[in-house]
Amino acid sequence: MAARLGAVESRNVTHLSGGGAVFWEAARGANVRDVDGNVYVDLTGAFGVAVAGHAHPRVVEAIREQAGHLIHGMGDVHPPARKVEFLEALARLAPWPHTRIVLGSSGSEAVEAALKTALLATGRPGIVAFEGAYHGLTLGALATTHREDFRRPFARRLYGGVAFVPFPGEGGGEVAMKRSLDEVGRLLAEGVEWRGGKEEVGAVLVEPIQGRGGVRLPPPGFLRALGELARRAGALLIFDEIFTGLGRTGRRFAFEHEGVVPDLLCLGKGLGGGLPLSACLGPREVMDAWPPSRGEALHTSTFLGHPLACGAGLAVLGVLEEEGLADRAAELGEAALARLRGALGGCPWVREVRGRGLFLGVELAEPGTGGAWGGAAALVAVEALRRGVFVLPAGPQGEVVELTPPLVITLEQWETALDLLAEVILGLKP
Ligand SMILES: Cc1ncc(COP(=O)(O)O)c(C=O)c1O
Repeated sequence: MAARLGAVESRNVTHLSGGGAVFWEAARGANVRDVDGNVYVDLTGAFGVAVAGHAHPRVVEAIREQAGHLIHGMGDVHPPARKVEFLEALARLAPWPHTRIVLGSSGSEAVEAALKTALLATGRPGIVAFEGAYHGLTLGALATTHREDFRRPFARRLYGGVAFVPFPGEGGGEVAMKRSLDEVGRLLAEGVEWRGGKEEVGAVLVEPIQGRGGVRLPPPGFLRALGELARRAGALLIFDEIFTGLGRTGRRFAFEHEGVVPDLLCLGKGLGGGLPLSACLGPREVMDAWPPSRGEALHTSTFLGHPLACGAGLAVLGVLEEEGLADRAAELGEAALARLRGALGGCPWVREVRGRGLFLGVELAEPGTGGAWGGAAALVAVEALRRGVFVLPAGPQGEVVELTPPLVITLEQWETALDLLAEVILGLKP
């Protein structure tokens, strides 16, 4: 499979050297089976997508039923009825009395829609984002993604009116938080320098918990203070909940932990139950910055409001509520933190076990220096895979083992996989 793939796919896409990739054939719940018949426990949720589990029977049935009569519609011209039903269901979950939504297919697209909305609503192009942020790799979103290796080759195509402010880690406490907020305040007042001028700031874009940045939680109160600063300056607070949304952190949305409501909300990943579906949501007052369509939508795409994805999305939203998956994530996550901290507490190369709900990270440090142990999480991922468990590395230097399992993972699967993971981490040779 690897040889065949290498012969046809652009070499940048799949990491094939070292035999690290296994080829999936089937998946259900938190289990995956590869083409050789090996069965794994998936602690990644396949990039956090499988919130309702792989192939939840209700999602499968919804797709099957929808495929039987309409696979594709004309999203912004002659819309599929399922799009209407899905938008209604999604709007009911939103925090505003009158919600308006732009659908997309990928997370990056939802971010693009939010950034466009902010420019229309405020007339100001500048953006405040955060160090360690990941908002996607399409050119608009990439301008707000912090990691240098993703940006450098395309730097000349990227909008430069984006300022990256330090994201205060939970451990940084009041001092780090104040430094960061002061910097945001200064940028909101003065604008972002670019090409010899100043770009006034219309958007503050933040992940409530940084995902690919290494499962980093801000200190309590940070997001609320950020919202106040943005609002006072007439800028929009955009929460990228593509990773944290839909129950993963133990609430329906991560902002619910923080006593703050964003001006725009981006969702993706689990929204389509495994089919590509994303959304930018906002209150009518903000979203009406978009002009009415006059027959040519200013922002759309061929697959917008795809009926299969909307059908699956409706099923996902139903499953999340009816199976109480956010509460389940809160419970399983709390117990997992205790279990992992107990098992790894004395380990000299474990700096921290952290997270919220089923969004957890184990940060690894070099025992000698205490600095980030670059690449260590990949060593864990390879060994865990050999023993039947999928995990992914995260963090700027690949120093964090990221755990984002399906919220339907059984207690037995979860505890067994966590114990195995702890063994693998303890067995590392620094
Ligand atoms: C917080 C966040 N935003 C945006 C994205 C981009 O989503 P996509 O890869 O679907 O474009 C991701 C993907 O991991 C993400 O974690």
